Amino acid sequence: MSEKEHKPLSPEWWRSAVIYQIYPLSFKDTTGNGQGDLKGIIDKLDYLNGTEQSLGVDAIWINPIHPSPKKDHGYDVIDYYDIDLELGDLETFDLLVSEADKRGIKIIMDYVLNHTSSQNPWFLESRSSRDNPKANWYLWRDPKPDGSAPNNWLSVFGGPAWTFDENRGQYYMHSFLSDQPDLDWRNPEVLDEMKNVLRFWLNRGVGGFRADAIEHLFKDRDFRDEPLNPNYNPETDNPYDALIHIYSRNQRIEILEIIKEIDEVLGNEKLNFMVSETWLCAEDLLEYHQASEKKVCMPMNLNTLGLPWRVDKFKDFIDKYDSLLNKDHWPNYIFSNHDVSRIVDRIGESKAKSAAMLQLTLRGTPFIYYGAELGMGGVRIPPESIQDPWEKQVPGLGIDRDVARTPMQWNDDKYAGFSNADPWLPVCDNYPEINVKKELEDPNSILNLYRSLIALRHQSSALTEGDYLPLESGNENVLAYIRESETEKKLIMINFSDDEAEVSFEFTCAGIILSTNSNRNSNAESNLKKIVLEGNEGCIFELQ
Ligand code: NOJ
Repeated sequence: MSEKEHKPLSPEWWRSAVIYQIYPLSFKDTTGNGQGDLKGIIDKLDYLNGTEQSLGVDAIWINPIHPSPKKDHGYDVIDYYDIDLELGDLETFDLLVSEADKRGIKIIMDYVLNHTSSQNPWFLESRSSRDNPKANWYLWRDPKPDGSAPNNWLSVFGGPAWTFDENRGQYYMHSFLSDQPDLDWRNPEVLDEMKNVLRFWLNRGVGGFRADAIEHLFKDRDFRDEPLNPNYNPETDNPYDALIHIYSRNQRIEILEIIKEIDEVLGNEKLNFMVSETWLCAEDLLEYHQASEKKVCMPMNLNTLGLPWRVDKFKDFIDKYDSLLNKDHWPNYIFSNHDVSRIVDRIGESKAKSAAMLQLTLRGTPFIYYGAELGMGGVRIPPESIQDPWEKQVPGLGIDRDVARTPMQWNDDKYAGFSNADPWLPVCDNYPEINVKKELEDPNSILNLYRSLIALRHQSSALTEGDYLPLESGNENVLAYIRESETEKKLIMINFSDDEAEVSFEFTCAGIILSTNSNRNSNAESNLKKIVLEGNEGCIFELQ
């Protein structure tokens, strides 16, 4: 597929986009092996956009789809220039791009740049001797005189960050599994090759990238030991937290230099963007926004994943983050992804509806994790079925990422219409009730709420690009704010509690536009001097 065959993108289209994240192994299986595939995504594109009943999303970020031994479900890449055989091939990928394009959907690739698979030919060459052409593509270090690892660094997934290789008589460093050796980003050949990877997929028509684990890209040049964490409790805490990671991650200055390099590859037209996985606070995110001179690279804002569902916590974060950014810095809001438990499991079903309203009315691109729009959750994975390598390495801490990766629930057929074979992870028992088919028919379903919110966001200049103006609601359970563009002003109120909440505002209201509570009478609520929100209700009002 040549670039010419794609419809031209409008610059900075991602600012007004709603992005949907697909975990490809769990979306739709068309081969009958119990795992999702690219053809399955193509078959389900109409669900995502292009028809009256579609969800209405503008782009899909697909977790890694390259050839991989799947020790970490694709985050261990063997060949960055191909598609995993179990998922499809390049031809199917091209078809996906063009079929998605017909429906106004762009494809965002996962860009796994910190590490490769230990079965990647680059690593096989690198480990073959100390003087081969790729000898310095990875982080190799001699053992200490007593034969032990070069320093005390730990792997995020448990155990030491170093594995000894008999062949070279050296250790290699891995921030994650020993099957995922870290590349040496100070080697210019690595940088060149990884820029080529971006160009390859841009030429195939993708709209952008999600850069994996970017905080890990550089390590201390002297490989110093990391200090012990004085607050670490070995009885209860994750073993990775035994150290304070000041040398093995967050080497900010050099990471930000790479953002500038990627800026160059993405070009001047602002047609493509990259969002980087960053588990950082608002102030640190700002530096990532600032590093991208072309304003096409952004950090992922993952802060809201960890916040308790409390007005003060959300208000503090959102107000601070939004006020730190200037007009050029485009934020994003992520309420669930493949690495944390599902939002319904964190805050429950009714609150998940108001969370959807919050996410889709904030200033910043919303990323919706597949199944969130159905209220998927509630899965228990029996110990013998666990697939997550992290959970396997450090069991019992509640990491279990499988619970958020179970098959998409399409209908009430066996295996929820995901596959006709036993799926790689169990389908949640609630699938006869929680599924696309049933929820599309129910006007009060969370799916139809998502569809209404996305449609409203697309029609509204205030909700897409308008300013965010924080308000004091006067009620500790109600988060209130205004989104304002040159032509529109919308007031949003979210009741975080199970109880009714009364609020009062002096604004003149032109009507209520949408409530998470289907019983609300839209004509009766124009007087903002006294509004009583139901428990967990969210409302959007038009202001004059
Ligand atoms: C972050 C990804 O989101 C996660 O799923 C993966 O295991 C690690 N990076 C390692 O690539």
